[in-house]
Amino acid sequence: MSDTIYREIIIDHYKNPRNFGKIKNPDFKSEVSNPLCGDKIKMFINIEDDKIRDMKFMGCGCVISIATASILTEKLKAMKASEILRMSNDDALSMLEIKLSPNRQKCALLGFWAIKKAISGSHGVKK
Ligand code: FES
Repeated sequence: MSDTIYREIIIDHYKNPRNFGKIKNPDFKSEVSNPLCGDKIKMFINIEDDKIRDMKFMGCGCVISIATASILTEKLKAMKASEILRMSNDDALSMLEIKLSPNRQKCALLGFWAIKKAISGSHGVKK
């Protein structure tokens, strides 16, 4: 993917984040923040029989954190909760297809950490 196309995708997801909002009475929710900047993502997830029924997020953060939370919620909604729990940070980053410095990787993983933290409550697994 060229840098220009990549930048356009990121800006599009930042300006029009998918799955942005709150689920009323979610089965699971979480909040994570980036200690470097204080940005926060809140995640709301409904799960039924290991299937993700709905996933929404809210938060304030940089372009990368909001855009990647948007991209990841789109992709991970199609997966099973148990599959997501087995994913590593590297799996999430490769799903994003972005080359980032270590500090920017924290921005890009904020949404993923929020998803895993919320889902871990559904399986009794600590993050
Ligand atoms: Fe705060 Fe990116 S600068 S999450």
